[in-house]
Amino acid sequence: KKDTLIAPSVLAADFANLQRDIEMVNHSQADWFHIDIMDGVFVPNISFGMPVLDAINKHAKKTIDVHLMIVDPDRYISTFKKLGADVLTVHYEACTHLHRTLQAIKAEGMKAGVALNPHTSVSVLEDIIQDIDLVCIMSVNPGFGGQSFIEKTYDKVFKLKEMITRCKSNTLIEIDGGVTNKNAKQLVDAGADVLVAGSYVFGADNPTEIIADLKIITK
Ligand code: DX5
Ligand code: ZN
Repeated sequence: KKDTLIAPSVLAADFANLQRDIEMVNHSQADWFHIDIMDGVFVPNISFGMPVLDAINKHAKKTIDVHLMIVDPDRYISTFKKLGADVLTVHYEACTHLHRTLQAIKAEGMKAGVALNPHTSVSVLEDIIQDIDLVCIMSVNPGFGGQSFIEKTYDKVFKLKEMITRCKSNTLIEIDGGVTNKNAKQLVDAGADVLVAGSYVFGADNPTEIIADLKIITK
């Protein structure tokens, strides 16, 4: 069985000590940096933008997984490539021509991800699953860290995993929101490949240990 990837969400880092927190992730067992970009339109919050991602990219030594919670993401695909994104995830709900958007992301040499809000059924991806490198199932409503996990997520993971297997696709399943040691194992058993964790990691006294624990729990 392959390793579950752990992706600490930088949204929950201490922005006044960003370099310290990035180095913590670099030296931990974490696999990816999860970067939440919010525009105040698609979601009711604004996180941080290009100059901050540029600073993160200068220090980050692991895969940069960018989660765009913005309207009209097509406008910024090449910008995020230049800022170091390895995986670029757009919201299903923000894309009128999702197929075209995914092709544009891949043409820039990035992995293409699609995020689904809690109300969006995984079944909407049936006809495009083979073109998607990663599906991010939102297990909270996007916009804020520190919210509680929506239990319905397990069913969505099962259903998506079944679709991916049936379509013989290599798509990874990522879970984003409210991930802790209480739900990590069950999510992986349901089919999750990547777990994002923000406040659970950065809110801990020993984040490195929390990351190591998540790796063990999901083995
Ligand atoms: C929510 C973001 C998440 C968030 C997760 O809109 O997409 O990535 O940072 O934070 P926690 O783990 O605290 O729910
Ligand atoms: Zn996110």
